[in-house]
Parts: sequence; C-alpha cells; structure tokens
Amino acid sequence: MTNQQTHKREATQQNLAKIKVFKSPIEGSDFVAKQIESLIKRKQKQNESCVLGLATGLSPVLLYKKLIELHKQKGLSFENVITFNLDEYYPIPKENPFSYNYFMYDQLFDHIDIKRENIHIPDGTIALDEVNPYCDAYENKIKAAGGIDLQILGMGSNAHIGFNEPGSSRTSNTRLVQLEEETRQANSIHFDDPKKVPKAAITVGINTILQAKEIVLLAWGKRKIEAVKKSVGEAASIQVPASLLQNHQNCSFIIDEEAAQGLNKKTFQKKD
Ligand code: GLP
Repeated sequence: MTNQQTHKREATQQNLAKIKVFKSPIEGSDFVAKQIESLIKRKQKQNESCVLGLATGLSPVLLYKKLIELHKQKGLSFENVITFNLDEYYPIPKENPFSYNYFMYDQLFDHIDIKRENIHIPDGTIALDEVNPYCDAYENKIKAAGGIDLQILGMGSNAHIGFNEPGSSRTSNTRLVQLEEETRQANSIHFDDPKKVPKAAITVGINTILQAKEIVLLAWGKRKIEAVKKSVGEAASIQVPASLLQNHQNCSFIIDEEAAQGLNKKTFQKKD
C-alpha cells in the first residue's frame, strides 16, 4: 500500500475537490512542503515572487516545521516569498502570545529568510472605525502582489475556513466578523484562560480564498471527521464554509486516514 491514496469524487460539475489521504499528518505535511518547495523554486527561476496564503492553528504546524527544515538543511530560500495570513483575533496586540501574529513568527517566520516587509498578517489593533478601510487595503495588497499562488487552509470543527463561520457569503471579502461560541470554545485550548478568547476577528473572505490559484486544505485526526465529511462528502452549502471549495478548479483536501473515516468509499473512486 502506498502512503498516499487519492480519492477523486466522481466528476460532477459541483464537486471538483481532490482528496488525498495520507497515513499520517507527517506524511501529508511533507507532501505539501515539497509542493511549496517546487513552487518557490519555479518562481525563483522565473524571477518572480511566490505568493502564499497562510493559516494558523494546529493543522499547519508540521508543514511549517518541514519548511524550516528545508530552509536550514537544504538551503531553500524564502527571499522571493510574499505571505498573506488568513486571519487574526480582534482586538489583540501582536505581542500577545495567543495572537496569530505571535504564532506565525514563532512557528515559521523567525526561522526562515523571508523579508519582513513581505509578511502580511491582519492587525488586531486597528481602531474600530478604521477596520473597513484597513480590510479593503488588505484585499488590494493581495491583488497588487499578483494574487495568491497557493493558499494553505485548516478548518474548524464547524468547517469554518479562516474565520468565515457557517453562513458566510460566497462573495465575502476581508472583514471584521463575530466568532461563534463553538469556535471560541474549540480555540480556547490555545489560551491560558477560555474567557480571554476574543469574540471577534479580522478574516479574509470566502471570495478572497476562492480567488487563489491553488488551494490546499489540511485536516488531521478524528476531530475533523464530521467537517471533512460535510465538506467533500455532501453538497456544497454556505452552512459548511469549506464545502464552498468544491467549486474551485484547483483545490486539494490533504487529510489523514483518521479524518477520512466518514467518507463514503462508494461515492469516492480510489486511485493509487
Ligand atoms: C482557527 C483558525 C482557522 C483554523 C482553525 C482550525 O479557527 N482561524 O484558520 O483552520 O482554527 O484549527 P486547528 O488547525 O487547530 O484545528
């Protein structure tokens, strides 16, 4: 048996998502890290920037570890890389160890040679009356960089992507959103006190995500079984934000065997 099995939903126009099932999160993360490595190198040869959309949470942690390893041990340079993170709590200072700004430097940026001016993470300290223009400017920066070449996503247990909670519009762009109680509770594991989980966040929109040239969603473990099942095993609905990725032309769900347990094998064609 190979480490990777590809499940491709029988072609309907509605569900174009590719599902790649790996034995473990490490194998799935290594696969995506190599994909990013090739993209960065291809762009380097063409003298172009490589624009990555990045996520926080536990799902991409092993991917970031692998990218750091590729930098330190194989000399992979991130000098031509521009990044845009999906989201940040609001309000929260950047120095707060529970902020996504802190997380990204701690888990990735402090360990690679990316230019600091190429890093973009929503700012959780913007004054409330400046949030809307700030969000418009964030969208414009993505466009000015040439759009996102590869968007990495995790997903919440309610299938939220970024902080686009169930019910978010397909046409949504970067904006301030309220967090669901379920999300605040799930994310409280990262905080020292559940009461400190902010009630709002700045997130890129579903539309912003769908405009990426390529999307890779990572989901590991039993706690993602339901979200995976609803996102790729059932019809797309705005109540299940990650299911809206089904319509994207170049989107893969990179999952492990545990997260794949809810998928109906009859509906999916297995490929080696
Ligand atoms: C947060 C982030 C999402 C992330 C989700 C899943 O809510 N805003 O972008 O996908 O957490 O987190 P984890 O990867 O820890 O399961």
